[in-house]
Amino acid sequence: MARQRMNVQAPVERLFAERWSTRAFAAGTPVTAAQLASCLEAARWTPSCFGEAPWRFVIADRFADENAWRGILNALAEKNRLWAQNAPVLIATACTPTFAHNGQPNRWCEYDAGQAAMSLCLQATALGLAAHQMGGFDIEAVRKTAGLPADWQVMSVTALGHPAAPEAAPEPFRDMETAPRTRTPIEEIAHAGHRDNPWRPPAACGWEARYQESEPEQLPWFHDGLDADIGQALDELGLTSGRLLDLGCGPGTQAVALAARGFTVTASDISPSAVAVARARAETAGAQMHFAVDDVLDSRLDGPFDIIIDRGVFHCFAEPDAQAACLATLRRLLAAGGYLLLKCFHKDETSEMGPPGRYGAEDIRRLFADGFSLLAAHESRFVGPGNDTRPKALFCILQRNPD
Ligand SMILES: Cc1cc2nc3c(=O)[nH]c(=O)nc-3n(C[C@H](O)[C@H](O)[C@H](O)COP(=O)(O)O)c2cc1C
Ligand SMILES: C[S@@+](CC[C@H](N)C(=O)[O-])C[C@H]1O[C@@H](n2cnc3c(N)ncnc32)[C@H](O)[C@@H]1O
Repeated sequence: MARQRMNVQAPVERLFAERWSTRAFAAGTPVTAAQLASCLEAARWTPSCFGEAPWRFVIADRFADENAWRGILNALAEKNRLWAQNAPVLIATACTPTFAHNGQPNRWCEYDAGQAAMSLCLQATALGLAAHQMGGFDIEAVRKTAGLPADWQVMSVTALGHPAAPEAAPEPFRDMETAPRTRTPIEEIAHAGHRDNPWRPPAACGWEARYQESEPEQLPWFHDGLDADIGQALDELGLTSGRLLDLGCGPGTQAVALAARGFTVTASDISPSAVAVARARAETAGAQMHFAVDDVLDSRLDGPFDIIIDRGVFHCFAEPDAQAACLATLRRLLAAGGYLLLKCFHKDETSEMGPPGRYGAEDIRRLFADGFSLLAAHESRFVGPGNDTRPKALFCILQRNPD
């Protein structure tokens, strides 16, 4: 669930993708002592400065000591109490401010306690539990009820329990359970050698992550059978054979359908996992075609092709440099007189999820002016696996001009 709501820039271990801060807990299901022990053991093995382990946890388990649990619950900010009252365990996390070995202030104690809290959360996730950390509480009230000394820093309270369906989250939090999860981009949190230089992940990593972490049939662009716009364009143009490139073939549904129509298909994608999925689909269908792992922005493919299909690739590039590189590849690979069938997000599509590039017909005419003629364009929809979202699309037929 959490994984499906993420827009990842690179593949990560499942555990990182599956941890998230739910507000829907199963109130009646206790966390067992063995589960708690595993969570605390994970925290115990957290690295810390001088190995001093400055973190301290006070466990308030509703099913073991309701008074202790209620003491912490009552210290929470009201908004947190609304949902945290369904969590059977509340854990106060504190840290000891001085090094035991020399009595000096430990300026890393909060850092270490944060790491330990995360270890606990990840172990909880691995056990199928849910953990949600909170900073919103009355520090002195938690200190008092949990018996924490005056010089310890009270850092957080973690709600721990079994995850429940989104409906178990009280209003007004319910929608947050299913909303897309967003993060600061890698290039904003990482710098190459100096703070002025963003560290940029290879674009391929994000696509690879999508194909590694989702069933192909669940990808929003998955469309079994030929896209109706592409089929109609081929019919109108009277095209039934020729060398065809399915650029950014993804799960290979279009490539397989196009091979079945009689085209000599090459299917390429930047993601090796996508190509593997497409290859398997072609084998199952008994379709003969050529596959390549290839970056359209730095393509090693040899043309020419009579037809290029771009269903949802050009719109991935919003930066002028990337658009120019994509266009250069298309110009190089498409034979003079050849057709480019392009389907992209429409400029009127406002959904947060989806590609950065969204276009109207005039945008495409202008962007493709060097080397292509726009023969036709119409508004359409991307039809994916679910019927709930059908993003607005622009479908274009372009023809390669002679040089
Ligand atoms: C130190 C800390 C304090 C937080 N305080 C609260 C809080 O008071 N209430 C709350 O609902 N969530 C709180 N959170 C959860 C964050 O809002 C959450 O981790 C963040 O939005 C990212 O979402 P995710 O954990 O689902 O990936 C806190 C998290 C941390 C680490
Ligand atoms: C929206 S999906 C569409 C997939 C496929 N055309 C379809 O209709 O199912 C976009 C595809 O473009 C691929 N892609 C993105 N950037 C690419 C690049 N630079 N070179 C080649 N393929 C790329 C992605 O891996 C992904 O499979």
